[in-house]
Amino acid sequence: MSDPLRLVDAADLQRRLDAVDYLVDSGMATALFLSLALGQPLLLEGEPGVGKTASAKALARALDAPLIRLQCYEGLTASQALYEWNYQRQLLAIRLAESRSEKLSDADLFTEEFLQERPILQAIRHQGPVPPVLLIDEIDRADDEFEALLFEFLGEAAITIPELGTFTAARAPIVVLTSNRSRELHDALRRRCLYHWIECPSATRAAEILRRSVPAANQPLIAAATDFVGRVRGLDLDKAPGMAETIDWVSALAVLGVSELTRSDVIQTLVAVVKTADDRDTVIAALDDLGYRERTS
Ligand SMILES: Nc1ncnc2c1ncn2[C@@H]1O[C@H](COP(=O)(O)OP(=O)(O)OP(=O)(O)O)[C@@H](O)[C@H]1O
Ligand SMILES: [Mg+2]
Repeated sequence: MSDPLRLVDAADLQRRLDAVDYLVDSGMATALFLSLALGQPLLLEGEPGVGKTASAKALARALDAPLIRLQCYEGLTASQALYEWNYQRQLLAIRLAESRSEKLSDADLFTEEFLQERPILQAIRHQGPVPPVLLIDEIDRADDEFEALLFEFLGEAAITIPELGTFTAARAPIVVLTSNRSRELHDALRRRCLYHWIECPSATRAAEILRRSVPAANQPLIAAATDFVGRVRGLDLDKAPGMAETIDWVSALAVLGVSELTRSDVIQTLVAVVKTADDRDTVIAALDDLGYRERTS
């Protein structure tokens, strides 16, 4: 383990993440710790809202490292992710040279002066005491050919710019990739990463996350909401509520001043928990079984 991060072990990292309100089990702490200790990228998968994106943000805060984010989407190209040539400045330089009756060669135009860093080159060339955390979020949204552009970077912490040569990071950036499994990723990408599936938090950890995320909510409300969501997740839903929905829901309940959860509170605030009309019907139909009966008096 290198000096700047001063991490002792996985439990130490778990404590430091806890200090920035990101609560992980020992499996996740070990995955993150190994990624740091081995200098290898970490590929995270898990249900929506389970804390994949938040992990990189929390890691950056816990390590006091800068966060560089690359949000992936269909059509993402090398010039948006790696580097780009500043064509406008190149054109200006050509015009200026022409006005002086000079001619610029490729060697004059494809230099550092005209190079624009995008997140991956930025992460490679970052100078500073602590390496940056590079979040490559939702890699499955990018076209599968895009993955091939990452192989050199993921395997060697380097990228080659044909006109300038190979740039290798002095110290490998901390790389977290996330995927929602909307398509299969290449084996070659998986091979270059450590892999961890983030489990949904246990009821105890979920309650603690809620306590920290929604300070206005009282303990009985948090316990009732955690229990309710846990049981709703057992129903046959299109989109089972995750941690994000639970945080939103408890925030909504707290804003409405609810301190003890009743059937009508649940129905009024379902907007935060279920996200399709069918799921709403399913949850309302199950309210009796979930312990929220209609009052007869
Ligand atoms: N372990 C955790 N500790 C603290 N907060 C958490 C944890 N897991 C999730 N959260 C909170 O839950 C919310 C959703 O997390 P996040 O956006 O990272 O999920 P995600 O897995 O990236 O979801 P998606 O797949 O939809 O992008 C955030 O507000 C985050 O802070
Ligand atoms: Mg995310």
